[in-house]
Amino acid sequence: MSESKPRDNPYLAHLPPSQRGVGTGSKEITKDPLFGFLPRKVKGDQVRKAMDGDVNPFTKQPHSGQYKKILETRKKLPVFAQMDEFLKIFSENQIIVMVGETGSGKTTQIPQFVAYSDLPHTKGKMVACTQPRRVAAMSVAKRVADEMDVQLGRHVGYSIRFEDMTEAGTTFLKYMTDGMLLREAMNDPSLERYSTIILDEAHERTLATDILMGLLKGIAKKRKDLKIIIMSATLDALKFQKYFSLRSDATAPLFKVPGRTHPVEVFYTQEPEPDYVEAAIRTVLMIHRAEDPGDILLFLTGEEEIEDACRKIKLEADDLLNQDPSSVGPLSCIPLYSSLPPQQQQRIFDAAPPPITKDGPPGRKVVVSTNIAETSLTIDGIVYVVDPGFSKQKVYNPRIRVESLLVSPISKASAQQRAGRAGRTRPGKCFRLYTEKDFMKELEEQTHPEILRSNLSNTVLELMKLGIKDLVSFDYVDAPAPETLMRALELLNYLAALDDDGNITPLGGIMAEFPLDPQLAKLLIVSPEFKCSNELLTITAMMSVPNVWLRPNNQRREADAAKAALTVPDGDHLTLLNVYNQYVLNKHDKNWCWTNYLSQRALQQADNVRAQLQRTMERFDIDLISLSDEKKLFVNIRQALVCGFFMQVAHKEGEKGNYLTVKDNQASQPSLISVVALHPSCGLDTQPEWVIFNEFVLTTRPYIRTVSEVKAEWLIEFAANYFDLSTFPDGETKRALQRAWNKRAGRGDKKSSKGSRQDGSDERLAKKRRTDGRD
Ligand SMILES: Nc1ncnc2c1ncn2[C@@H]1O[C@H](COP(=O)(O)OP(=O)(O)O)[C@@H](O)[C@H]1O
Ligand SMILES: [Mg+2]
Repeated sequence: MSESKPRDNPYLAHLPPSQRGVGTGSKEITKDPLFGFLPRKVKGDQVRKAMDGDVNPFTKQPHSGQYKKILETRKKLPVFAQMDEFLKIFSENQIIVMVGETGSGKTTQIPQFVAYSDLPHTKGKMVACTQPRRVAAMSVAKRVADEMDVQLGRHVGYSIRFEDMTEAGTTFLKYMTDGMLLREAMNDPSLERYSTIILDEAHERTLATDILMGLLKGIAKKRKDLKIIIMSATLDALKFQKYFSLRSDATAPLFKVPGRTHPVEVFYTQEPEPDYVEAAIRTVLMIHRAEDPGDILLFLTGEEEIEDACRKIKLEADDLLNQDPSSVGPLSCIPLYSSLPPQQQQRIFDAAPPPITKDGPPGRKVVVSTNIAETSLTIDGIVYVVDPGFSKQKVYNPRIRVESLLVSPISKASAQQRAGRAGRTRPGKCFRLYTEKDFMKELEEQTHPEILRSNLSNTVLELMKLGIKDLVSFDYVDAPAPETLMRALELLNYLAALDDDGNITPLGGIMAEFPLDPQLAKLLIVSPEFKCSNELLTITAMMSVPNVWLRPNNQRREADAAKAALTVPDGDHLTLLNVYNQYVLNKHDKNWCWTNYLSQRALQQADNVRAQLQRTMERFDIDLISLSDEKKLFVNIRQALVCGFFMQVAHKEGEKGNYLTVKDNQASQPSLISVVALHPSCGLDTQPEWVIFNEFVLTTRPYIRTVSEVKAEWLIEFAANYFDLSTFPDGETKRALQRAWNKRAGRGDKKSSKGSRQDGSDERLAKKRRTDGRD
């Protein structure tokens, strides 16, 4: 008698497929590793058994050798030891607040535990885990895909602005930036596709995380099936527990993972350091020469500073090695910042270099990082931390509508986090490049939530689109300043995204669909009226990626010459367009980029962003057109730019190259910061009377960057309401505008129909939208 396989046996048809061996296709595998798992009632023993098994429960493929190896290291993480406790609290509660030391395994392990208990793949749902930083979302998703033995982008994926690394129907664990989840909420207000949402790094209090907390609190009341976990590194959990209490008499439960940290000895400088970068480099070299083996983590503030410091450290360390190879080991210096390509980011996990000779002194690794390494990414093996006490922070002044990234002192909480990075594997040392007195007296306790120091126009539009009209009574964790809200409403009203009653207009609805600032979204939407939508699409994409210009220290002159050859004198926006067009004409050639001192990576990114924005434009029937007459085209482009950026206009005052940002100067007393100059990178060959700018930067003095020349006539034609002179302070700017108004009255011009506020374009867009059936 021939042996029949259980799957073919008709008498077993009543059994679930997993017990019949159906769907596995392999004869050793007769049982589903998740057999007997009841969603949200799963126990630790079950999960551990499934994890230890030979078959991957999610792919049904045999586990790889690498999987087993990583599993062994995972088992040593503090979070792992508390799996049973976590699964219990997860089963019993809808909302959980969790705190644990950085590196304890929150970000990588908790979402996996949730996946095993929630089994989102069996109900067509997903688990989301948000991160404030793109780098962290990408890096952690990669790590977790490896840990779960699946391909990144399939069962485990990530989603960040302009990059969706997920597969519909397959991905059930998704790491994403908090901003992306907020965007998704606009079209799916109850976030139906998720069964559990984890807000990670909640202590960072980014703008998007704060808004999400408010939204999720509301959604949780309507969707009892949605579980929410708020994870954070520091111990101010009580604030979150109170905020998320579902009943007035009880706070949300706390799940706490005690850290397994080692003591860290903290050293201060005796005197304040006049140059923190120089002091930091000196300190790193001192550690390398004099301290026991162990890697170093140095915190600096941004890409340029970090690359520069790495170069200097490397040079000096090589010198030391040459002079005294018997007592100084080799040193590798690894930069870490968010715009770094992913493969290079992975280098932080490389081991320190081996000794030069067999018995020579051991090598050392130095990671020079932005704030990313404070809590988002854990680097093992760090024993020494060098903390100059600064980071780049967003600062917003609603009075002059300027948001900028400024190098600012960190908070005490940050300083403590940084020091903690030295004690992950064994006792460590932290060198603070400031005095103990400054630490005690000058540093704030906590970093201010971002919502209190940001321009809120994007957020307000998103909230409006979500149907939240009453911004004042929204349940904020910390409410923003009323003036900041006013400024946002005002900008959106001028852009015609909101009507005079504060309702979102059809135009505003479409603007919200673009993953862009409202000004840029507006530009794209009006661009067909100026017959230059192809070009504005390119310019917008170029403004959405990191700087494309390379300027290596030892080849500045060559780089500047290459840039000059690509520069269009009418404005930096047109130069960006030209660079992109040349890149395409040269068939995306790497060598062409290289010889022209352009970043191929940034240009590739622009290409990608352009394609995605184009899809959004097509979705809303925004035509892609160009004019063949280049001269006319260039004028039209600058006119269209005015339709988005009319609130970022500066007027030349006197002959010294000073500009005043328009409307910010109060009567005869222009505030110091409203006097700006064209940034040295600006390619204009003259100093035109009127310019629009994309960015305000404060270095040695206030500068405006990415600047194009515009005309006063355009300002009053395409943004008549904003340039209504009754709202202007007296001064040279007002007089110049008055002349433009007079000239226009003299010509007896009719009101233009292009791009201005309450023109036909809203109406037209509204019609298109109705035919879309998207409302
Ligand atoms: N890409 C990676 N390669 C190697 N180890 C990693 C990687 N990503 C994370 N880890 C390790 O996983 C551990 C847990 O990290 P994580 O879950 O991010 O902790 P937490 O979120 O609690 O700060 C850390 O020891 C870290 O070094
Ligand atoms: Mg984490």
